[in-house]
Amino acid sequence: MTAEYKVLGDVAVVTLANPPVNGLGHATRLGITDGLSKAIDDPAIKAIVITGAGKAFSGGADIKEFGTPKAIQEPNLLSVILALEASPKPVVAAMHSVAMGGGLELAMGCHYRVVAPGTSIALPEVKLGLIPGAGGTQRLPRLLGVETALNMIVSGEAVKSEVLAGIPGQKLFDKMAQSQESVLDEAVEFARLAAKGGELPLVRNLPCKHPQGDAYFAFARNMVGGMSKNYPAPLKCVEAVEAATKMKFDQGMIHERSTFMALMFTPESSALRHLFMAERAASRIPDVPEDTPKREIKSVGVIGAGTMGGGISMNFLNAGIPVKILEMKQEALDRGIGTIQKNYESQVKKGKLKQDKYEQRMALLSTTLDYADLKDCDLIIEAVFEELGVKEKVFKQLDEIAKQGAILASNTSTLDVDKIAAFTKRPQDVVGMHFFSPANVMKLLEVVRGKETGKDVLATVMALAKKIKKTAVVSGVCDGFIGNRMIEQYSRQAGFLLDEGATPQQVDKAIEKFGFAMGPFRMGDLAGNDIGWAIRKRRSVERADMKYSRTADKLCELGRFGQKTGAGWYDYQAGKRDAIPSQVVLDLIEQHRKDEGITPRKISDDEIVQRLVYALVNEGAHILEDGIASKAGDIDMVYLTGYGFPIWRGGPMHYANQVGLFNVAQAMKRFAKNPHDDANFWKPAPLVETLAAEGKGFQ
Ligand code: NAI
Repeated sequence: MTAEYKVLGDVAVVTLANPPVNGLGHATRLGITDGLSKAIDDPAIKAIVITGAGKAFSGGADIKEFGTPKAIQEPNLLSVILALEASPKPVVAAMHSVAMGGGLELAMGCHYRVVAPGTSIALPEVKLGLIPGAGGTQRLPRLLGVETALNMIVSGEAVKSEVLAGIPGQKLFDKMAQSQESVLDEAVEFARLAAKGGELPLVRNLPCKHPQGDAYFAFARNMVGGMSKNYPAPLKCVEAVEAATKMKFDQGMIHERSTFMALMFTPESSALRHLFMAERAASRIPDVPEDTPKREIKSVGVIGAGTMGGGISMNFLNAGIPVKILEMKQEALDRGIGTIQKNYESQVKKGKLKQDKYEQRMALLSTTLDYADLKDCDLIIEAVFEELGVKEKVFKQLDEIAKQGAILASNTSTLDVDKIAAFTKRPQDVVGMHFFSPANVMKLLEVVRGKETGKDVLATVMALAKKIKKTAVVSGVCDGFIGNRMIEQYSRQAGFLLDEGATPQQVDKAIEKFGFAMGPFRMGDLAGNDIGWAIRKRRSVERADMKYSRTADKLCELGRFGQKTGAGWYDYQAGKRDAIPSQVVLDLIEQHRKDEGITPRKISDDEIVQRLVYALVNEGAHILEDGIASKAGDIDMVYLTGYGFPIWRGGPMHYANQVGLFNVAQAMKRFAKNPHDDANFWKPAPLVETLAAEGKGFQ
């Protein structure tokens, strides 16, 4: 049982004790109802207080039970709340630290609530594509007023207890305690007094009205609908709160319940719940126990003050960790520091950063031209040119000067981290830290694990990633790691689609309609088409047999590298980023088809989306087979946080599971018959075949 029962004179205290946040799992729910029965049956007990042990009153549902039968096994949360309401002895919630989701619903089912200052109050279900499912949409408007309640339910954001306590006429809290420490004693005292009073108040009996009724809800629907077009839950929150104002309490509860259940089965909620779980799971590495000792990172060195070096440095400065940047020449240092300064200044101008914070951050930054100055750094990240020879020089020098136990990281996006590690006599200290551009903005950090990378190094880097607010995903060593290895196949498909009859704008539009932030051709123009060109040249030597469309090379041969040259797959007007369809490019593609003897055909948007997404999925499956990623959720995290995959679709692997791997494999076999594509391309990965045959999905 994960709730404790204690008697303080004539008051029983039921304490939720399910670390870390007293999630309302089955055992905890049982603990509450058992405690309640015991207290009701004991004539010496006059009142009951419910509170939470440790760091929370309750954070809500127990995520370990998500999607399992235990989540709804009786007593479910609704039944627990009914039992609280029915208690003949007053039940007082002693809320502190965190009262969220089901935790807040539980408190609202009590007769009274005493709260500590600083308690975070929220109904965050909307963030998982749901609405509150245990009375939250019916009780919160009765306690806080319709508008405040709806704002909280639609946003899912936490509000501090003292802010809510200041709302005129609020009934959520019956008493504000002096402090976190005193809340339990004050609640016990409150309960004793309540036991002397008359009829016990129930939230369900309170009125629930909005003075402008229909007009207000019409406005709310407009606002919320406009802001949440890919997500059904926010509008359902509005409907549920409206139901609270129009229906009897029990009817409103049925409305809430049926909406909650229907949302549970939407692909959007499934995707958001997957993301929630995958994000937490990504930080766990199967063979690196959570208690692995970590190294202390108090200072960071960065080699190279270019595009990446500057952005990488900002992450650490933002987290209060001093950074020393090394370059070959003073001018390069000056340029790099200038860019960092400009970046911060624009944040200050926009009001996103206070002047004094900016100054504090800049004060943590220093520069050098001399490797010896990095000898005390705990972590050194290299972000120099992407050439193995240059990396070799840098790592040999680092090996000379870095203190014992320093972590040596490379930001390489394609090179072999094992080779880089072998340039040193301490390969156990070498790791890949692959940031994404702009490195101070993008959430993703691929942590590349070399074959000798120490477990403590991995544990340290994963913890550090959290500190600098990145989503870290571990990748094994291979060309392109997880993200770029998959994007290569996606880009190849995009090329084949042009060969066969699509235009860049059709491809971009189709995949952007699917939800990608940017289609492959607009993306190429933004990042620079010459980068892919250089990689293809290298790969054409290493993997000469690989077929790909030559259109991209021909584009680069014209010097059309993208926005930076004013022309790429699209035309650009000076100073603007709007992609204008280009006749030059359409002619180039047409000529290319003639050269290859291809008669173009009309390609549907559905085919475009399937080919691009399944290209990712099949390579993702190979990545799992090769052990480059340890779980499918990691691949999804990479795509959701680094590549603009639509959040509400949950990442490529989750999306494929939703479509059904059987259907995915069938589509691949259909595409394989296409004469202009690469037939080998569409051979389903063995993992896809096996899982499809077994009716299973990626794990
Ligand atoms: P960049 O060309 O903007 O900057 C490289 C900087 O390194 C230059 O300022 C150069 O002066 C300096 N440098 C070169 N050799 C050096 C040496 N021996 N010692 C000290 N400094 C030296 O390049 P960028 O884009 O910042 O890329 C750096 C690394 O990050 C590469 O490995 C690249 O593959 C990787 N990367 C780049 C991404 C991007 O989008 N630009 C994304 C992720 C990784």
